[in-house]
Order: sequence, then structure tokens, then C-alpha cells
Amino acid sequence: MAVLGLMHYAAFTGLCLLVLTPVHHGAQVSTRSFLRRTLVEVSPPEEGICASSVLLHGYKCEELEVTTKDGYILSLQRIPEGRAEASGSGKKQPVILQHGVLVDGMTWLLNSPEQDLPLILADNGFDVWIANTRGTGHSRRHISLDPSNPAFWDWSFDELISYDLPAVFDYVTNKTGQKINYVGHSLGTLTALASFSEGNLVNQLKSAALLSPVAYLSHMSSEFLVVAANTFIDQIISFGQAEFDIKRLPGSAFLNSLCVHPGVDCSDLMTAITGDNCCLNSSTLKLFLLNEPQSSSRKNLIHLAQIVRHGVLAKYNYVLPAHNFIHYGQISPPVYNLANIPHDLPLFISYGGRDALADVGDVATLLDILKNHDQDKLSVQFIKDYAHADFVMGFNANDMVYKNIISFFNR
Ligand SMILES: *[C@@H]1O[C@H](CO)[C@@H](O)[C@H](O)[C@H]1NC(C)=O
Ligand SMILES: *[C@@H]1O[C@H](CO)[C@@H](O)[C@H](O)[C@H]1NC(C)=O
Repeated sequence: MAVLGLMHYAAFTGLCLLVLTPVHHGAQVSTRSFLRRTLVEVSPPEEGICASSVLLHGYKCEELEVTTKDGYILSLQRIPEGRAEASGSGKKQPVILQHGVLVDGMTWLLNSPEQDLPLILADNGFDVWIANTRGTGHSRRHISLDPSNPAFWDWSFDELISYDLPAVFDYVTNKTGQKINYVGHSLGTLTALASFSEGNLVNQLKSAALLSPVAYLSHMSSEFLVVAANTFIDQIISFGQAEFDIKRLPGSAFLNSLCVHPGVDCSDLMTAITGDNCCLNSSTLKLFLLNEPQSSSRKNLIHLAQIVRHGVLAKYNYVLPAHNFIHYGQISPPVYNLANIPHDLPLFISYGGRDALADVGDVATLLDILKNHDQDKLSVQFIKDYAHADFVMGFNANDMVYKNIISFFNR
């Protein structure tokens, strides 16, 4: 039961962070069939992201590899220029795109070229780099560990902060010699903010756009996830390292046990978990389900549940004071103090009124912590109708968000 608890708990954290919602405006995907498909019918394509999602639109695209200091070999795609361009047109600003948890870089590429952020950026003169976190489909390699080895999965977002982000930033800095613009979504905002707060990456950075920021999760409006995080974390914490793969989950006994919990309304589960996305196209969601969700580590999901539960952005909590002491030299995990983010770092933050994950109350906490940020370096956008996935996959995200990102980067 405890194992089932873990799997299902994490599944729904994942779903939530993945933002699978039923679609509106005539796109017919029911919650029930959607859920079933999510849990069973996924097989990532073997070909790389360039081949599956970029080259066919007439853009150049390079498949690259970056090795982290702890040995993970990450896949990275570069789209060096726009469609209409003759090559060699001078120095371009690089942009790194960092996806959230349980998805990979392909989630930026599920609409038409006129709607996808990487291609819009390329057409607007940027040199685009798409990162893929360790453990996701094209980043399942390590210099000595195989993914079948539990040690391959011994990491949480602390390691994404310490190793994955710096590896990609160093690589792009080396190749371009330019300061970098960053776009993060969901967990890609948390890892960036935490890095900046420790003074990392900031010397290589020109500016950062943070979509659906999730540095704090204590107001998360999904009762379902709050109950899941609070009820099951104790059971799952002792299970140690392993891959977390939604595609291999069993049935829904756990779901039923959660749904009888007072306060949890499962009648429209997807909306309850993720928020009411306004602007997803059913064809986009079909593509999404062909490639996502991707694997993460159990430890990473447990760490996220700790953030929900404790309301503090801290390093992974080993629970036993002695274990924390071994890792950190103190009995509780160190906190990432976002007030230490350099006040002159150009930040663009965009958040949605219907986002059940990056809840308005938690974004308010973040903005309060950033209240001493230089006024002219912080740009905040609120989109009343947007929920978590609209920022990456919304059919109108170009008009709503991406145009603003581009003018922010061009300031
Ligand atoms: C970047 O360049 C430096 C100096 O040439 C080199 O030591 C380092 O390994 C490079 N890093 C990456 C990630 O390519
Ligand atoms: C939704 O996707 C279909 C198929 O790709 C496309 O023809 C249609 O224009 C899309 N709708 C919107 C609003 O982007």
C-alpha cells in the first residue's frame, strides 16, 4: 500500500505539474479518457527532438550533448537562426529554454511554428537552446551509471540546480561568448531562482523570463494535491532512490482512497489538480501525450512534496537530523534565500489567475520577497485566464506572453 501510495501520489503531483487538463472550446477530450491515456498509452519517439519537431518546419537544428560534473549526459538542441535567414548574420543573443518536471524540451514545440516559443524566438533573431533535464527521454545517459541502476536516480532538484543548469549555461557561454537569456517554466523557474539566490549563473546571465513561477507551493489551490502531499509523504520517504515513471503505473485504488477525503472534489479531477487552462488545442494535447510524461526521480517528487508541506524552499530534507547533518553539517536542510537574488538582475515574471500550482498567493509571496528588486529590472505580468499549461502550450501564448518576453529580452 505504501508503494502504491507513493506511485499514485507522485503520479498526481506529476499530472498536476504536467498540466494535463480537459480542453475547452469544443476540443473534445474527456477527463476520464484523458486520465486513462495518460497512465497507459505513452511511448516516446526514438528520434531526437530536432528530427521530430524542428527540422520539418524548415529550421536548422543541432542535436548536442552536455555532460554534467556528476556524469549525466544531457541532450540539448540548438536552433541557431530563423527560417527566413541567410546564415552568418552577426552575433545573436542566446536563449536557454528550461522545461518543468516530468516533461522534456519537446513540450515547447507542440503547436505550429507561429505558436511555439523556440521557433518564434529563432524567427526574432535569437540563438535558441532547448535543455532536457536528466532522466527525461533523451537525457537518460551517464558516464558510468545505467538508468536501471537506482543510483542513477539519486537526485532531486538540488542536483538540477548544482549540476544540470550550470552544465548547460557553461556550454552555451563557451559556444557563443554571449550573455544568456533564460526562459523557465514551472520547476524551471524554481531551479533558476534558487541558483540566482546562491549567486550562481548570474554572471553568465543577461535576463530571465519566469513563467508560472513555483518557488513556493503553500497556497497551491489543488485540495487534491495538498491532501496527497500531506498524507503520503511519510510513507514514501523511506523508499529511497528509484525511477518515477508514470507510464508504468498500476490502476487507481489510491485515487479512490484520496477522493473520499473531506474537501477533495474529484468530480473534475484534472481541473482540480492543474487549474482551468483556457487555451489548449486538442491536437496539441494529443501530441503531448505521445511524448510526455517523462520520467523523473522519486527523490525529486518527494522534495517537491516537502516544499508543499513545509512552505519553505529548502534543500532536500533527509528527515533524520543525523542524516541531514551528514549532508549539510546542520540538522535541518539549508534554505534557498531568494532575497539574495541580485537586485539588478533583469527578471520578467508571468503568472496566471487560474493556475492551481503557481497559485496567485504563492506568487504574491515571491513578489513580496522580490520587493527590494530594482524597479526597472522587474517586469510582472498577470494573465487572469491562464493556468499552468497555457504558458507553454497555449494556442494564443505568443500574443499573451511571448511577445512580451521578446521585447523584454530586447530592452
Ligand atoms: C568551457 O571552456 C573552458 C575553457 O576552455 C573549459 O575548461 C570548459 O570545460 C568548457 N566547458 C564546457 C561546458 O564546455
Ligand atoms: C488547433 O490545431 C489544429 C491542428 O493542428 C489547427 O489546424 C488549428 O488551427 C489549431 N487551433 C488554434 C486555435 O491554434
